Amino acid sequence: MVQLTYEIPSKYSAHDVQKQIDALVATCGADIEIVDYAGRVGIRICIEDLPNKIDVDHALIDKMKGMDVLLGYDRNRTPIIHTFKHPHMIIAGEPGFGKTELLFFILYQWIKRLTPNDLEIHVIDLKGTSFIPFIGIPHLHPIATDLDKAYETVKRVYDIMIDRRDKVLERGDKQLLRQLARKKHLLVIDEAGVIAPKLWAGDERKTCQKIDGYLSQLLMVGRELGIHVFYCLQYPHSDYVNPQIRACAGGRLSFHLSKPEFSEVVIGEPGAEKLSTPGRAIYKTNKSITIHVPYMHDLEKRLEAMKCDARRTMRNGATCVEDNADHVHRSNQSFLSLRPLPVQTRE
Ligand SMILES: Nc1ncnc2c1ncn2[C@@H]1O[C@H](COP(=O)(O)OP(=O)(O)OP(=O)(O)O)[C@@H](O)[C@H]1O
Ligand SMILES: [Mg+2]
Repeated sequence: MVQLTYEIPSKYSAHDVQKQIDALVATCGADIEIVDYAGRVGIRICIEDLPNKIDVDHALIDKMKGMDVLLGYDRNRTPIIHTFKHPHMIIAGEPGFGKTELLFFILYQWIKRLTPNDLEIHVIDLKGTSFIPFIGIPHLHPIATDLDKAYETVKRVYDIMIDRRDKVLERGDKQLLRQLARKKHLLVIDEAGVIAPKLWAGDERKTCQKIDGYLSQLLMVGRELGIHVFYCLQYPHSDYVNPQIRACAGGRLSFHLSKPEFSEVVIGEPGAEKLSTPGRAIYKTNKSITIHVPYMHDLEKRLEAMKCDARRTMRNGATCVEDNADHVHRSNQSFLSLRPLPVQTRE
C-alpha cells in the first residue's frame, strides 16, 4: 500500500476529497482509501487487496482486556479494535454480508473473557433463529423473537438503567455510579428495521413506538450507567432508523449497502455501496477505515465447550443471569409465536 498525504486548503475537507473517489480510483487503477487527519488528507492506494476470508487469531483475542473487541484488520493487516469509548454501535449491511457473523464474533470475545457478573446480554432477534447457538450461555437472557418480547426486553434494560440512576441520585454518590456501571448490560437488536413504527399499523405500531421511545432513552442516557446498544439493520433507510442511534452511535460499521444514501445514514458518507465481499466493511469512529472481519468457522463447537464449562461451574454453586433455568424452554416457546414481519424496502 502507498500513502500520499496532502495539506487541504482551509475551505475544503477530507469529505470533499472522498466525493472525488471514483475519479481517483480510475486514475490510479486501484482501490483508494481516504484518511482524514483534520487539515491534511491521506490518499491510500491499495495495491494489494484484503483477502476474502481471514481466520480468527485466538492468541490475539486472548491477550485483549476488558470490553475491547477485535473487529477485523485494515489493509496494512493492523488489528482494528472497538473500545467502549464508543458505547453504542450501529451495524448495517444488505442480507448475507456478515452482520450476524460479526455480532457472533463480538459476543464470543466478551463471553469468553467476562463472567455473567461482568456482562449480561439481551438479544432481540425478530428473524428468530440466528442466535440459537448462544442458547444456554449463562450471560444471555431469553431471546426476544416477537414484538411483545422485544418490548419486554427493551423495558427490562430500561428498568435496570433507571434503577441504577435512582440509586445513584438517592445516595448522591458518583463512586456508586462507577461501581454499578462496571457490570455491563448489552442490548443487541438484530434487524432493527423491523421495529420501525412506520412499518406497522394499529397496536403493533404502538408497541414499536414504545420500544423506540425506551431505546432512545437507553442510547441517550445509558453509557455512564453501563448500558450499551448494538443496533443492526439491512436497509438503513432514514425513515426506519431510530434518530437517536444516528446521533449517539460512536461506532458505525457498514457492510455492503445498495445505495450511497444508506451509507450516509450509517457512516455519514458514501462508500458502503462500493463494498462487494461478505465480511468487508467500513468502520467509522472519528475516521473511517476499510476492514475485513475474521470468520469463525468453529463458533458452534467453541460455544458448546463454553456451555459445558458453565454447567460444570453452576453445579459447583455459581450463578448465572436471572431466569436462566427456564431459558431454553422460554426461548423455544417464543419461536412458536412468530408472526409475519413487515416488508422493508430497498428503495
Ligand atoms: N467475515 C466474513 N468473512 C467471510 N465470509 C463471511 C463473513 N461473514 C459472513 N460471511 C459469509 O456470509 C454469510 C452470511 O453472513 P451473515 O449471516 O452474518 O449475514 P447477515 O448480514 O446477517 O445477513 P441477514 O441480513 O440475511 O441476516 C455467512 O454464512 C458466510 O458465508
Ligand atoms: Mg443476520
